[in-house]
Amino acid sequence: MPALTEIRLEEYLKLSQAEKRDYLKRDGRIFHVLFAQQFGRDDLESLGRLATRIRFMAKSREGMSFLRETLSDKRAMLYFSQPSTRTFLSFCAACQILGMTTGEVRDTSTSSEFKGESREDSVRTFSSYFDLIVMRSEIGGLAERMAWVLSNTERPVPIINAGSGKDQHPTQALLDIYTLQRSFENTGGIDGKTIMFVGDLARGRTVRSLSLLLLNYRDVKQYFIAPPGYQIGSDILEALERAGARYELSSDFHSLIPEADAIYMTRVQDEWDKSEGRASGQFDRGRYSFGVEDLKRLKQKAVLMHPFPRRTEIDPAVDHDPRAVYWRQMRNGMWIRAALIATIFGRGKMIDEHAASNI
Ligand code: NCD
Repeated sequence: MPALTEIRLEEYLKLSQAEKRDYLKRDGRIFHVLFAQQFGRDDLESLGRLATRIRFMAKSREGMSFLRETLSDKRAMLYFSQPSTRTFLSFCAACQILGMTTGEVRDTSTSSEFKGESREDSVRTFSSYFDLIVMRSEIGGLAERMAWVLSNTERPVPIINAGSGKDQHPTQALLDIYTLQRSFENTGGIDGKTIMFVGDLARGRTVRSLSLLLLNYRDVKQYFIAPPGYQIGSDILEALERAGARYELSSDFHSLIPEADAIYMTRVQDEWDKSEGRASGQFDRGRYSFGVEDLKRLKQKAVLMHPFPRRTEIDPAVDHDPRAVYWRQMRNGMWIRAALIATIFGRGKMIDEHAASNI
């Protein structure tokens, strides 16, 4: 098994994502979680199964007591230098479920970065006190660089990318896949389904990661629906082409609604406008939003998703419809992140065995 200690950073960064995959493992298990291409179908299925186990166990006091012992010997650092509500809180809750204690830096103006400390030194500092670092950053690829840096120190703790720039958000994609697995449980699973992505696809990292994870499924059709200038990146389309996946680009959302098995709405990522010199005020929000009227055209068994935060993309009046699964999707983040952390530390089997002995 190749290791990050055996390759120079510049050489590692030149590898394709597929070539990098094995470098991010330890003892045959996923160790650093940096991008979606690390996960194969088996990983997605076993994570989903473990998340469901945890979800059921957490319903009882006995189950919760067991879960709380699972990682009571480990501590996690939540390093979020970019705004976050759900990802931060669901990681926090996932750690609590597993009995991990947590530390956090959310505002670098209160940390030594303000005094000019480099990110490398900050992250290395966290690894002195904690056993896992969950990090969100506005810099694409930062988590990857940090994973290499830490692997080459005497405290090589795992890093989980909780959102990196405009690039990837692998754990959001895991919770999205878990939501799709659950939603299509009785309709043949994810294989063969039509998934529609809508909104600012150029800068939305959740869509990029999920689109790549969907390549693990057979015969899925992906629609990318965005106004000109906001379409999904060519790197993602190239990955789809290489995998022989079916996809279509469009700017006309409402007429395509009846074709979807899942619609994944996203907001305009206008926090990037300034650095990109664009003005998203021109984005026609009405054309890329879902209202009560649209429910009539949505298949009976389809689901409507959103990574949140939402603005006007989905009318809150839609929330009561059983096909609106975004609140459940959000909660799924806590279960799948707990499953992921347990897996990284090799404690998934313990949870499985406990669940099996209690049936
Ligand atoms: C997303 C993100 O941060 O990329 N939020 C999330 O983690 N659920 C989506 C967004 O901000 O639009």
